[in-house]
Amino acid sequence: MIEFTSKSEIQTLNLAQQLGKHAFPGAVVLLTGNLGAGKTVFAKGLAQGLGFDGLVKSPTYNIMNIYQGTLPLIHFDLYRLNGVDDFHGIGGEEYIGSQNVCAIEWHEHAQGAFGDEYLEVEIGDIEENERTINLIAKGIKHEEWLDSIHDINN
Ligand SMILES: Nc1ncnc2c1ncn2[C@@H]1O[C@H](COP(=O)(O)OP(=O)(O)O)[C@@H](O)[C@H]1O
Ligand SMILES: [Mg+2]
Repeated sequence: MIEFTSKSEIQTLNLAQQLGKHAFPGAVVLLTGNLGAGKTVFAKGLAQGLGFDGLVKSPTYNIMNIYQGTLPLIHFDLYRLNGVDDFHGIGGEEYIGSQNVCAIEWHEHAQGAFGDEYLEVEIGDIEENERTINLIAKGIKHEEWLDSIHDINN
């Protein structure tokens, strides 16, 4: 686990951009945190790190956005879903793994749908512009991915 203290939106974007730059096909990012924590900001940084320079907005109503970078980033917001069956209902699992990078807000609403290999980004201790960001990797590929940004200065 890496604990990172972000003191601004820009610092959160930079951290996520580093991960985006080193992302691998099949990477899964579970974004955990309350409303306003910075989950969408983090997804935006991932997209930027993957070379996507368009608009990144929360897919709250449409559930899923796709941003075409060096790898496709599939950005989910599952707030409106009620369990893993709903996720299967929208065909969500077809996007997980393979050649995509996935970033999932409100993954708790489809608990169990994402297997046991992922990077969890837990954003908490919200205070004005400060956030504590815990990065927890499960599975060797995601551990190596997290190691690839180990030299981030904090
Ligand atoms: N250190 C920080 N990291 C990320 N966002 C921050 C930070 N400080 C302030 N913010 C603000 O918090 C808000 C986060 O919004 P958003 O990413 O949409 O949250 P979520 O998707 O978790 O509901 C943005 O308005 C952003 O400018
Ligand atoms: Mg959001």
